[in-house]
Amino acid sequence: MTRTILRGRVLSFEREPLSIDDAGSYRYFSDGGITIENGVIVAVGDFVAEAGAEVVDHRPHLILPGFIDMHLHYVQSQIVGSYAGSLLEWLNTYTFVEEQKFRQQGHAEAMATAFFDELLRNGTTTAVAYCSSHPRSVDAFFGEAEKRNMLMVGGKVMMDRNAPEALCDTAQSGYDDSKMLIERWHGRGRGLYAISPRFAITSTPEQLEASRALVREFPDCYVQTHLSENDAEISFSMELYPDSPDYTGIYEDYGLLGSRTLLGHCIHLNHRETGVLAETGAVAVFCPTSNLFLGSGLFDRERLAKAGVRMGLATDIGGGTSFGMMATMGEAYKVLQLRGQRLNPLASFYMATLGNARSLSLEGTIGAIAPGHAADLVVLDAGATPAMRLRQGNIGTLADELFLLQTMGDDRSVVEAYVAGARAKSTLGGLAAPRA
Ligand code: GUN
Ligand code: ZN
Repeated sequence: MTRTILRGRVLSFEREPLSIDDAGSYRYFSDGGITIENGVIVAVGDFVAEAGAEVVDHRPHLILPGFIDMHLHYVQSQIVGSYAGSLLEWLNTYTFVEEQKFRQQGHAEAMATAFFDELLRNGTTTAVAYCSSHPRSVDAFFGEAEKRNMLMVGGKVMMDRNAPEALCDTAQSGYDDSKMLIERWHGRGRGLYAISPRFAITSTPEQLEASRALVREFPDCYVQTHLSENDAEISFSMELYPDSPDYTGIYEDYGLLGSRTLLGHCIHLNHRETGVLAETGAVAVFCPTSNLFLGSGLFDRERLAKAGVRMGLATDIGGGTSFGMMATMGEAYKVLQLRGQRLNPLASFYMATLGNARSLSLEGTIGAIAPGHAADLVVLDAGATPAMRLRQGNIGTLADELFLLQTMGDDRSVVEAYVAGARAKSTLGGLAAPRA
């Protein structure tokens, strides 16, 4: 059995950091070693050489758990940065046009390949993705994830109204296709399925009822949808579901809220809605680059935290503008600055790793560097560009270094990504050799 030891500065969170100097929230080894066997971490601590073990020396770089992205649309990789006024215009003008391409043989496969390459280039080793309404797009997604041995969550978007006919399923076909795909992919290798009614506007009551039936039949699947992103979206949703008390109430009425429910955006919630999210354990997913790009609004992290709502952090490609979780943390910081809330860098790196793993109920599997966890890791260089090196000369603490990474870092700061113990970034096609 081969044992590999990754040597470097090792950082892994153990709980949510309460402040920028909360040293009890993480473990840090300035000359650390991560011992990996069969893709799994078997030991972590100060580096010790071991006879027979291969050593990969990543000093002076930081090694963290691979990033986890809680919400994005792999089928929107080619519409990032599309010029639109706001959400509904953006969906109608670009998104619903783009997603129709996934009907074509070959397109989904090509996009899945490019998408996974981009995730790994940015150090993201697990993501929760929407596919298009076409089952083929789901096969391409999980097929590619399986080839790369990545823990991926995804699902076929269900949408049966208020969109072009070529993109719409029906309540029955959405149910049938989702069920077939769950049986094919959920629990196969590292794949996990998310039942994915797009949002209230594009699902009839019959389709939300069909989603409820799927949740009852497959209670260990995730549920993902969008909630309270934009004012016009909220008004339209309430016109379509006049008997529900509010937007959250729509999903509540159809039994779609639970601890495996992931709700993108959650920006404009009322008091009752935050209470319902807290009670049901549903997760509010913060997508800062998307919320800024589409002008959707400012996520209120402090209010949701006080109410006891679980939270996640995500890129929301292609409403979001970067595949990188570091850029996402940087923009999260700015959104919260505008709210008068200060997100410290320990907290944002926690969110992108252990925090998101917990929000997916995958603690113990991914999100930390500890024995028994998958060796899904990222190696980071805070001096990857001349401007970063200049700034690096004037920092003192680990928190400063993380803050530099999230403020100025991009895929150039990702030296390597490991998936189940295997090098996954430097082995991508067309890439230069990894930095030492
Ligand atoms: N609401 C419904 N669909 C979408 C989508 O694709 N992107 C975003 N940002 N919001 C949505
Ligand atoms: Zn989305």
